[in-house]
Amino acid sequence: MIDISTQLLGFRLRSPLIAASGPMTSDFAAIERLAQAGIGAAITKTILLDASINPRPCLYRGKGYFLNTERCSTISLQRWLSNELPKLKQLDIPIIASIGMTPAEVEQLAYPIVEAGADMLELSIFTSYDDPSPMVEAIRRVKKAVDVPLSVKLSANVHDIVEFGQAVRDAGADAISAIDALKAGLHVDLETKYPAMLEQGFGRISGEAIKELALYHVAQLAHYVGLPLIGTGGVMSGIDSLEMISCGAMAVGVCTALIVNGPQSVTTINEQMMQFMHEHDLDTLDQLRGKVLTRIDFPLSVEERREYERQQTDASKRVAIIEQDECTRCQTCQRVCLYGAVEKREGRFFIDPSLCEGCGLCVSMCPVGAIHYRGEDGEY
Ligand SMILES: Cc1cc2nc3c(=O)[nH]c(=O)nc-3n(C[C@H](O)[C@H](O)[C@H](O)COP(=O)(O)O)c2cc1C
Ligand code: SF4
Ligand code: SF4
Repeated sequence: MIDISTQLLGFRLRSPLIAASGPMTSDFAAIERLAQAGIGAAITKTILLDASINPRPCLYRGKGYFLNTERCSTISLQRWLSNELPKLKQLDIPIIASIGMTPAEVEQLAYPIVEAGADMLELSIFTSYDDPSPMVEAIRRVKKAVDVPLSVKLSANVHDIVEFGQAVRDAGADAISAIDALKAGLHVDLETKYPAMLEQGFGRISGEAIKELALYHVAQLAHYVGLPLIGTGGVMSGIDSLEMISCGAMAVGVCTALIVNGPQSVTTINEQMMQFMHEHDLDTLDQLRGKVLTRIDFPLSVEERREYERQQTDASKRVAIIEQDECTRCQTCQRVCLYGAVEKREGRFFIDPSLCEGCGLCVSMCPVGAIHYRGEDGEY
């Protein structure tokens, strides 16, 4: 029996998927649709003391990425307190209210928002790229005001996410959501000579383009900080979601996928996760959680962590090898090899181990996955 439920801060989520703060969690009706589609929990659009006004346009779907200039919730605090949050409390999923942006503001917001029905809070605090102290101060104040679990949203725009993660952990945060959409991207239309975001020009990037960046930051936080993580950024499919879990996430935030593929994508992603787990004999997410972390060589010193190019590498030789049974003779490996290591003999392709630098390019470009590594400790 495949079980995709997960535990987060004392709550059992039926799916690890959490709707990340965004337009798909803008009010009760939007979150109810996601709950019907099988979401595990939802984080509201960030609530401030004053309702925000968005530039128009504020959303742009590009190929393999998403741009937005959305501000925070456009709904008034009063409406959240009297209408949306009390109704959300009736849903059978945990509701995490996102609040921002300054320590003084979240201190005022926390108590009434929890009273109105939020099960947990997520802090979205404005900081400069090198100073987590506003987050630390915000946590301190909110912890005094309420006793629900508290997550903090982190961005990959900061100079060292581990330093921020450790600071919020030490200040008493119970979990971390990472990463936020990235600042910033610009799409231009050469025909009109306008940027896609007509009013502001540039916007935050999310979606497919940021997944690998998100996985890296989630893995860093899992290893160096150790708080429960809502791994967020570029998750569009069940495989993406399981990748997040393999990097140590307890739950998986989704935003762009819900916007571009609709609430039903929750059902699809849940099914895709179960399909993969079925095919790989996995019964629970715990069997996969953090597995990739054990294969990452995390630097011990802060200097090497911040500039990993300085890290000493293991010089053990690793070369590529072609599985002849799987090769379709497409010639890609020979075309791309920068070291002339792939030769063609009698219509078949072979890699000369004395020339192969083990760079990995052909392994990642072979369209049928016919190239593997052979290292000192075997083949994989
Ligand atoms: C249109 C849009 C609006 C967003 N609004 C918020 C917000 O109000 N508060 C917040 O913390 N994050 C906000 N985010 C960031 C998302 O919660 C998420 O961290 C980010 O988009 C990366 O995930 P994704 O690639 O699945 O979209 C927003 C993202 C998008 C695309
Ligand atoms: S890229 Fe893969 S399929 Fe194509 S020739 Fe090389 S090994 Fe064969
Ligand atoms: S791993 Fe790099 S060097 Fe070796 S055969 Fe492939 S492309 Fe050439």
